[in-house]
Amino acid sequence: MEDLLSRLRSARSVFVLTGSGISAESGLPTFRGVGGLWRTHRVEELASPEGFGRDPHLVWTWYNERKAAHHRAKPNAGHYALAQLETTIADFTLCTQNVDSLHLRAGSRNIIELHGNLREARCTRCDVRRPLDGAGLPLDELHHSCGGLFRPNIVWFGEPLPRAPWRRARVGAAQADVILVVGTSAVVYPAASLATRYSAKAYIAEINPEDTAISGRVDCVIRETAASALPKIVKAVSLNSRADG
Ligand code: OAD
Repeated sequence: MEDLLSRLRSARSVFVLTGSGISAESGLPTFRGVGGLWRTHRVEELASPEGFGRDPHLVWTWYNERKAAHHRAKPNAGHYALAQLETTIADFTLCTQNVDSLHLRAGSRNIIELHGNLREARCTRCDVRRPLDGAGLPLDELHHSCGGLFRPNIVWFGEPLPRAPWRRARVGAAQADVILVVGTSAVVYPAASLATRYSAKAYIAEINPEDTAISGRVDCVIRETAASALPKIVKAVSLNSRADG
């Protein structure tokens, strides 16, 4: 931990990759852990263009439930700590795989939402957007006037990542002095490769209560939850910055 703190104190550029684990302490389920979404739901039915083509009502019913859960949830101490860290680092990028908007609500600003978000639906034909409220999309409003269907504005399995966010993420990882990987099993590519493949010089720390696919390839492993570890780390870094100033 001391090594990580000293790297963070001198870092000019920090890149953070988060996954669903950071929102676990806000009451949202992860994907693959105990109670994880992909343990009880079929990913190909709910999170693929083919599944949406077969049954858009089923897909929207599920995403509307998730949207409602996101709306009820509140950012936790881990989200807030990252928003605080951003204010102390000159070049800070937060790249999340999450679509729950909790980083935004916690006050983070330079966010890359690699898998999109559930704040909007978009038309499959003309790409027009419409905002989603806390209840999601009414099932009788799936059709857009151009003839297309509204779909969640997120990236599904089998779809490429949107180019601009993916480029920004690679650049952020490449120029980072420190990379924090928080609450992700690091099994979904290409997001998982950001820390290990695209970093050029970074000291990499993983914050996760469990072992992951990249644990053996990082410089520092903190086996704690995000809401427990991140506030301590950020407090230690901020106190030191104030002392320096
Ligand atoms: P996973 O469910 O694969 O992994 C969640 C990780 O969070 C696990 O490694 C847990 O150990 C860890 N975890 C659990 N509670 C935690 C806590 N309180 N603090 C810190 N870590 C905790 O979820 P993701 O890695 O986010 O993609 O999954 C990546 C992608 O797969 C998702 O974005 C989604 C999914 O399919 C799409 O929908 C495209």
